[in-house]
Amino acid sequence: VTFLFTDVEGSTRLWEGEPEAMSAALARHDEIVRGAIEDHGGYVFSTGGDGFAAAFPRAGDAVAAALDAQTGLHAALRLEGVVIRVRMALHTGEAEERGGDFFGQAVNRAARLMALANGGQVLASATTAALLGGSQLIDLGEYRLRDLSSPQQVFQVGGGTFPPLRSVEALPSNLPLAPGAFVGRRDELAEVVGALELSRVVTVTGVGGVGKTRLALHAAAELLPRFRDGAWLVELAPVVDPDSLVEVVARSLDAPERQGLPLHASLMDFLRAKRLLVVLDNCEHLLDAAAAFVTQVVAACPHVTFLATSREGLRTSGERIVIVSSLGLPGGDDDVEMVASADAVRLFVLRAEEAKTGFALTAANAAAVARLARRLDGIPLALELAAARVRSLTPAELADRLDDRFRLLAGGQRTATERHQTLRRAIDWSYDLLTPPEQAFLNRSAVFAGDFGLHSAEAVLAGNASDEVDVVDLLGRLVDKSLILAEDHDGASRYRLLETIRQYAQERLQGAGEAQRLHRRHAEHYAGFAEAAGAGLRGPDEVSWTARVDAELDNLRAAVAWTVGANDADLALRLVAPLTLNGTRAGFAAGSWASSAAAVPGAEAHPLYLQVLAFSGWAAAMAGNRRWGADLCRRALAAADASGVDGRALCRVLACLTGVGAWEFGSGQVLPLARRWVQTARSIGDDYELACALNGEGGMQQFDADNHLAAIELTDAATVLARRLGNPSVLCYSLLTSGAVRSPDECVPYLEGAVASAEQVGNPLGTGMALGMIANAYALRDDWVGAVPYVARSMRICHRAGDRHEFARCLQTVGQLLHAIGDDEGAAVVFGTRGLGKRAAQLRTNWVADRVAAAEASVRTSLGEERYGVYAARGDALDDDELAAFALGKLDDLSCESA
Ligand SMILES: Nc1ncnc2c1ncn2[C@@H]1O[C@H](COP(=O)(O)OP(=O)(O)OP(=O)(O)O)[C@@H](O)[C@H]1O
Ligand SMILES: [Mg+2]
Repeated sequence: VTFLFTDVEGSTRLWEGEPEAMSAALARHDEIVRGAIEDHGGYVFSTGGDGFAAAFPRAGDAVAAALDAQTGLHAALRLEGVVIRVRMALHTGEAEERGGDFFGQAVNRAARLMALANGGQVLASATTAALLGGSQLIDLGEYRLRDLSSPQQVFQVGGGTFPPLRSVEALPSNLPLAPGAFVGRRDELAEVVGALELSRVVTVTGVGGVGKTRLALHAAAELLPRFRDGAWLVELAPVVDPDSLVEVVARSLDAPERQGLPLHASLMDFLRAKRLLVVLDNCEHLLDAAAAFVTQVVAACPHVTFLATSREGLRTSGERIVIVSSLGLPGGDDDVEMVASADAVRLFVLRAEEAKTGFALTAANAAAVARLARRLDGIPLALELAAARVRSLTPAELADRLDDRFRLLAGGQRTATERHQTLRRAIDWSYDLLTPPEQAFLNRSAVFAGDFGLHSAEAVLAGNASDEVDVVDLLGRLVDKSLILAEDHDGASRYRLLETIRQYAQERLQGAGEAQRLHRRHAEHYAGFAEAAGAGLRGPDEVSWTARVDAELDNLRAAVAWTVGANDADLALRLVAPLTLNGTRAGFAAGSWASSAAAVPGAEAHPLYLQVLAFSGWAAAMAGNRRWGADLCRRALAAADASGVDGRALCRVLACLTGVGAWEFGSGQVLPLARRWVQTARSIGDDYELACALNGEGGMQQFDADNHLAAIELTDAATVLARRLGNPSVLCYSLLTSGAVRSPDECVPYLEGAVASAEQVGNPLGTGMALGMIANAYALRDDWVGAVPYVARSMRICHRAGDRHEFARCLQTVGQLLHAIGDDEGAAVVFGTRGLGKRAAQLRTNWVADRVAAAEASVRTSLGEERYGVYAARGDALDDDELAAFALGKLDDLSCESA
């Protein structure tokens, strides 16, 4: 059977926006799609939502029906205001037919494939494609469907160009690929999905190791296509300090820091217009902070949903709890089939097969495996630990030994739940089987927060020089025993402990009296790393160093927290100072650590103190506390002048003060500071500082009409240096300023360069801003065709990055553009947007304000005040999401027409 699934893209939003037009359009849609299916001999067996599920005896007929339906829709549905785009998918396979309905794997596959398609697009699976034999097919490559299984080959049927598929990779998300197959949990998954339909806060609870995280991740992947802005995992396990929760969320969501707002407000602003799912994993140790954060977000951001995992509920209002209990146990021991069908056994057998090739459940070992699964209460983590031992012990031996262990401990404390006891014993048992060096190594590895690389393991975990340990060997042995997880991150191994195991190891480490020594070693290692990163981030390898710093953020944060708690000023400052690079991703992280590092008793006397103090001022100013920030920077400079610091540190202090001064005291006062920065950089021969400083000086001059040429010269010099340096961030900023100081006829190549550099280093704010400036330049030249692709890209990026100022600026361009092509109704909707001018004016000097005002006045005249008012009110009622959809819809139509 070949299945055809169809679905209207974004129908919920369309319903909300234009209910009457939508209902008429949908009726027409039903007629067309059903007609096409029936004309080609298909049978409609389901009509869920706004789509059809149909079965065809022949693949060729199914394709013909899909293409006819698309053509018919395109021709008929350009009704005013509502454009319906339908996604479709075809898959062929065996299926069971019962009472007019179809069941089986092939039906699900077809539905999942459809979920990848864009509106207007028809996809086909490899099976269907093979039956069609090549014509009309475009091979789109391999994609992961949302069951997180291995990737599938996907084809597009018919022509048309579309955005990337909405697969797990294409949808914005940071969900990790799951290790090993997922077992069972059908009811729990349905329960999570159902709970999320009723509440925006769902917490998965249960004892340690029972599979909360795994279930939540699976549910999130399944639900991903429902959240336009994706599903995001925030790992709270490595977070020690409740105060850093917001920082960690912002980081995990890749929410850029917004100038002029505290981190918290910046994140709220980012989330306000987002439709996304946040998976807060392991909340139990931060319950109050997590609950407070969730409550605030739920109140302020109408489309953000939380799926938390925690050993206890968060107790926020409206929270729904899904309790995860153990995997299903076998009913009896004798029948292999019956034993094999229990989920606990399935998990054990799967992992045992991974540990030992040739392992199988047989009539001979079924009873022992069943006993084992019951003994371990069906707890996944316990089952995995036991399965890792099948290489040396048979299931019967394993079960016997566990029996002994459990009998031995049977009189122990009964305060915690029974299952908790079981798990604890299973871990004890697994731990006791380790050799002493393995035990010590496992204990020590708990010092890492989050995951860690081999090099760090060697530096931190090796014993003293006297007791030689082969770290690679020990890691391998612990990975084999499932106590440490190994993951491949772009070709490099990273290691990680499951949370329950990490806590266990941490207790042991403390018990062994080694914790303090290990924490110090960890902090020292990361101070060395920060120093190397600081140098790397200033050079040509900024991109790879940024990735390395990103990967080590949890460890850096934990190290800073430990040194601050231990009052170790030297280590705290050495961890933070190298990362004080304004306007970079690393600097974003260091900004929130600088003030606590500078506040450690005794820090004042340290040679790195003043640059960290100044950076804390810059970060405070960035977060909207400008006067206070400027004050800290000034204090840092005064102290530097009084006591003398080296040129490198002085440059950093001046960088911060120049940056803050640009907002706080105007160009007259800042220019001398920028010039001093230039001089100092020259005197120490540091090209990184010099390029930044020249760019800073040039940027200051641009506001002064008399110094226009000087601005161009300075930014050119900065660009030349930045190119020589090969550092993408410095190049991005110098090209941005170079573009900003030039005329609309000259600026585009500079700004294109800024876009490329910003993209290279993953800076969406820079990319969005540069694209928006290019669109503006085209607009100023009345080249509307040229402006369309830039404003569309800028709008998408700024909207995604939550940059509402640049987004508003894009809308201004769109409004002018629509007016220019005679769509005054559309222009009025855009100009009617609430607070448009105010928002757009806040960021840069608004050099197009006059043109925008003129365009708006002209739209008013041509429509008349009354009609203008009607359309403007419509725009005023739209939120940013709807505005983006409206404006991008208009732009898409335009680019189709011009193509
Ligand atoms: N349904 C499942 N299918 C396959 N593996 C599973 C399943 N549930 C759990 N596991 C595995 O069992 C181990 C423990 O699961 P998980 O980490 O999700 O537990 P948890 O309840 O989140 O524990 P903690 O309280 O320590 O955070 C993991 O290795 C996980 O991959
Ligand atoms: Mg967990």
